[in-house]
Amino acid sequence: MSKQRAAIFASGTGSNFEAINDKSDLACDIVLLVCDKSGATVIEKANHKEVPTFVFNPKKYASKEAYEQKLVEKLREEKIDWIFLAGYMRIVGPTLLQAFEGRIINIHPSLLPAFPGKDAIGQAYSAGVQTTGVTVHYVDEGIDTGPIIAQREVPVLPEDTEDTLKQRIQRVEHTVYPKIVNQLIEDVQKASK
Ligand code: GRF
Repeated sequence: MSKQRAAIFASGTGSNFEAINDKSDLACDIVLLVCDKSGATVIEKANHKEVPTFVFNPKKYASKEAYEQKLVEKLREEKIDWIFLAGYMRIVGPTLLQAFEGRIINIHPSLLPAFPGKDAIGQAYSAGVQTTGVTVHYVDEGIDTGPIIAQREVPVLPEDTEDTLKQRIQRVEHTVYPKIVNQLIEDVQKASK
């Protein structure tokens, strides 16, 4: 079977993009970065790694449906099997969800269902919890509500600032996301044999 092809969707720094790309035995090829912010640092990271980019401005389209239709065309052209969201700051709509049913995955920096949505790390820090974590899940039409694939706990230490907590969470993300990417692809390959 030929290697599965994946696109990463990201809007920000791209540390997860980098971690997935850097996994030496990654079970898929990362063949595209999709980004909705023209100045995002993740674009530089993709250029550095020679991963092709598709940067779009959602404001130039009449609707979410219109830009997602364009994305679906591009993703089909590139024969994409999987979409991994890594800090993509938009809600995925029905157009993309239907075209890639069961093939869109997200990582979220909390133990869902706790602290969904924006600034999950800040929410957990302000709430004063002793344990937070990381969740990898399938994407559905809600905000961080899709079926959970894997979770890892991360302690909040008494001396933590929001920043040190973020660093600890991101270190866990960088291990868990590439690992789950491989696990998902291996499971699908086993099932198709
Ligand atoms: C990560 O913390 C991820 O969990 C969340 O957005 C952040 C993206 O960070 N969805 P980066 O751009 O991968 O550094």
